[in-house]
Amino acid sequence: MCGIIGILGDHQAAPIMVDALKRLEYRGYDSAGIATVEDGRLDRRRAVGKLVNLADLLVHEPLAGLAGIGHTRWATHGGPSVANAHPHRAGRVAVVHNGIIENFRELRDELGGDWESQTDTETVARLCERYLDEGMPHRDAAFATIDRLEGAYALCFLFDGEPDLLICARAGSPLAIGHGDGEMFVGSDAIALGPLTDRLTYLEEGDRAVVTRAGVEIWDIHGNRSNREIRRVPVDRQRIEKAGHRHYMAKEIHEQPQTLKDVLDLYLDGDRVVPPDGYDFAATDRIQMVACGTANIACSVAKYWFEGLARLPVEVDIASEYRYREGPIGADTTALFVSQSGETADTLAALRYATPRARAILSVVNVTESSIARESSVVFPIRAGVEVGVASTKAFTNQLAALLCLAILAARQRGEIDAAREAELVTGLRRLPALVSQALAIEARCEALAVKLAEATDILFLGRGPMFPLAHEGALKLKEISYIHAEAYASGELKHGPIALVDRTLPVVVFAPMDPLFDKTVSNMQEVMAREGQVLLVSDAAGLEAASDGVWETLMLPEVEPVFAPILYAVPAQLLAYHVAVAKGTDVDQPRNLAKSVTVE
Ligand code: F6R
Repeated sequence: MCGIIGILGDHQAAPIMVDALKRLEYRGYDSAGIATVEDGRLDRRRAVGKLVNLADLLVHEPLAGLAGIGHTRWATHGGPSVANAHPHRAGRVAVVHNGIIENFRELRDELGGDWESQTDTETVARLCERYLDEGMPHRDAAFATIDRLEGAYALCFLFDGEPDLLICARAGSPLAIGHGDGEMFVGSDAIALGPLTDRLTYLEEGDRAVVTRAGVEIWDIHGNRSNREIRRVPVDRQRIEKAGHRHYMAKEIHEQPQTLKDVLDLYLDGDRVVPPDGYDFAATDRIQMVACGTANIACSVAKYWFEGLARLPVEVDIASEYRYREGPIGADTTALFVSQSGETADTLAALRYATPRARAILSVVNVTESSIARESSVVFPIRAGVEVGVASTKAFTNQLAALLCLAILAARQRGEIDAAREAELVTGLRRLPALVSQALAIEARCEALAVKLAEATDILFLGRGPMFPLAHEGALKLKEISYIHAEAYASGELKHGPIALVDRTLPVVVFAPMDPLFDKTVSNMQEVMAREGQVLLVSDAAGLEAASDGVWETLMLPEVEPVFAPILYAVPAQLLAYHVAVAKGTDVDQPRNLAKSVTVE
């Protein structure tokens, strides 16, 4: 979603800010803008669409100044337009904002007059300008403004006549302060600040900060001065380049053998699972898992593992539903939240609902400095490295790997498996990076099949058992980057309605490894073929040998013990979606309407 950069530097700020905004592109945006203070004078430039449009504008209408704020906007209130793009300005105040100000209509009514934009953010600038008009100093005016705001925000203010001042606030949306040598920075994440500094202070919920070149002063939610830690957060430049691939998504798909090894190195020790932090799953009687999108699909797979291996009941909920359902959480229930970014607003809200109720708050996150990680009692990192493509790939397989390790740990703690079985499972886990590498060899076939699939208007994905959530992952990936309508069904559920959709124009992707459910899935596949559905069967050598007669096409994956199959079958789900999107010429890394980190509800 939206991205923020702020600079009090000793070089021209505009090019540095455009560069920082480029690093934030992965979050998803539809307009961008910057403001600077030069000779005490505040000015701004804004453009709709990709950052190249802003860069072009700056060539024709440059902006000088060593201090500035910049923003990439993902439209919420008001469509993508120059008038709605940030920074918003009222008189002496310019402001950039991530989040949503929920009481902006009330504030608009109170302030009256004409409005330049349809945004909630313009009210923030107008309110602050009013307080300046009343004679308040800058800090007081900004703080009085923030006092009036309801909703979620990360804010950064820049003022006319003040080239050494940024005022920031955080409530519900993350914000980091970067410490340079005689320079200071503000960023919505560490990636924005990567090449500028690796010394970061993360603002806590409710914090306000006054930033000058001399440093930062922070007040906490109660108005007390607080000394927040400066942490070293190295951003691996290598991992945020495309490394020769056409898209970040392709690079991230191909990184999976390595990223899986990275996470397994963290969770395995010899023949045992030894996670980086401990939790006693024998002392809980139920797990409530909550997440959104692909992370939610990882939870749905994990349910099979926790229930199958550890005999521990699991409920899986979509965070946006769970947070308002107010479902009961017993004191013996463990709440577990999965999130790549660790900032997804609905997941965070669900976590806050569970915090006073559940036995413990566990999180499985990629970004360990994130809000979800910081508000959890136990954090399980997934070590996938920076994921730039909007469609989650390597974070998904690493979420699965971490969750499978936790399920094995739970099984051991609950006496459901002995040391020999644990050692066998650990050996299987250690083989996964090599198997995923082999699985990637299907890429050329996926590319060829994609040409045909790209002509479809609808595609159905089928699977049974843990392949059912994988079918969901295949359909989600395809929808989000190729814009083709896709649906996932549990194979056995098809005849209860959706089979009516099947005809010769419908491609049906069937995930069916040779597992105890194979014959059942194949029977459902036959029902599809009997109605002329075009089946693409994804299986292993034994499965294809047994069931490929009459199918439209096949994809062959390595044979693997069924418990590991979901991690391997993620590869065709990703590669099919990727190549269909490439065949259709869509914007693979930044698909329309989507944002990488969804910080509004
Ligand atoms: C799909 C995708 C999204 C995210 C979802 C949750 O490819 O990336 O569905 O999985 O927005 O995001 P996180 O994991 O950051 O909470």
